[in-house]
Amino acid sequence: MSIVYVNGEYMQAAEAVIPMEDRAHQFADGVYEVIAFFNETLLDAIPHLKRLDYSCGELNITNPHSHDEWLEIINQMITRNEHPHGGVYLQVSRGTQSRNHVYSQGLSANVTLSAFGQKTPSKELTHQGAKVITYPDLRWKRCDIKTTGLLGNVMAKQAAAQADAREAILIKENGDVSEASVSNFFIVKDDVIQTHPSTNEILSGIAREVTLRIAAEKNLLVKEEPFTKQAMFDADEAFLTGTTTNVLPVVQVDDTIIGNGKPSPITLQLLDGFIEHIKEQTGYELWS
Ligand code: PDD
Repeated sequence: MSIVYVNGEYMQAAEAVIPMEDRAHQFADGVYEVIAFFNETLLDAIPHLKRLDYSCGELNITNPHSHDEWLEIINQMITRNEHPHGGVYLQVSRGTQSRNHVYSQGLSANVTLSAFGQKTPSKELTHQGAKVITYPDLRWKRCDIKTTGLLGNVMAKQAAAQADAREAILIKENGDVSEASVSNFFIVKDDVIQTHPSTNEILSGIAREVTLRIAAEKNLLVKEEPFTKQAMFDADEAFLTGTTTNVLPVVQVDDTIIGNGKPSPITLQLLDGFIEHIKEQTGYELWS
């Protein structure tokens, strides 16, 4: 049985009710975060809460809670749901109002949270490496805001699932790679790590930032520059990062095998660093 949170109250999921004229329901006028926890301890909570502040700020949504208040609610969700490892989904909708594209100032946000058990990739998948597909990036021009408007992502991820692939790599109209449907994407060529810069065209992931920091600590070379679909096929290594992904090696894109078809040295160094990062913050040894 799963316990959810709605505007100040914890309850069974089946009892939760949101007004029909909630603006996230009618317009996707809301923002969200997904924060992982291991050993019931949050991973990178403050960067996630800062990104929530950013998303709210860009849309003029009033974030109803301070970081301390958020931490209290999120930790309650972890305690009440009894998953040792997993994630918390939190959503802030602008509020409830009779349907009108124009919103009133000062609406009272609808806050909802749910929790789920661990769904990061298994040891087997990580060591084998994932297969992904390419898919057109159909999304809008403010992918830097973590809004609940995710149909472009949903279509891409559904296509991946139907192709028995872990993820969909999104290809922009100009032929460059932006990111993936629920994660960020990196390639490695001639020992240089490359990923799309943090612009309006991607969601700048917290795991992406952590991975870039690990790369810097290990003195690895990084280029935050766009790259083409062909450069991806020609890469020596490729990998994904994300809250529900950690660092996941990619060994096949569509029908093309990447590099030698196995998780390769630079990706594995970053994966080690990420496992260490989880252990430092939460005490959890992934796959132990
Ligand atoms: N998604 N890019 C997109 C489009 C995403 O939706 C996500 C995360 C990421 C990775 O961000 P982070 O490292 O902060 O998790 C990149 C979450 C997990 C989701 O929508 O479920």
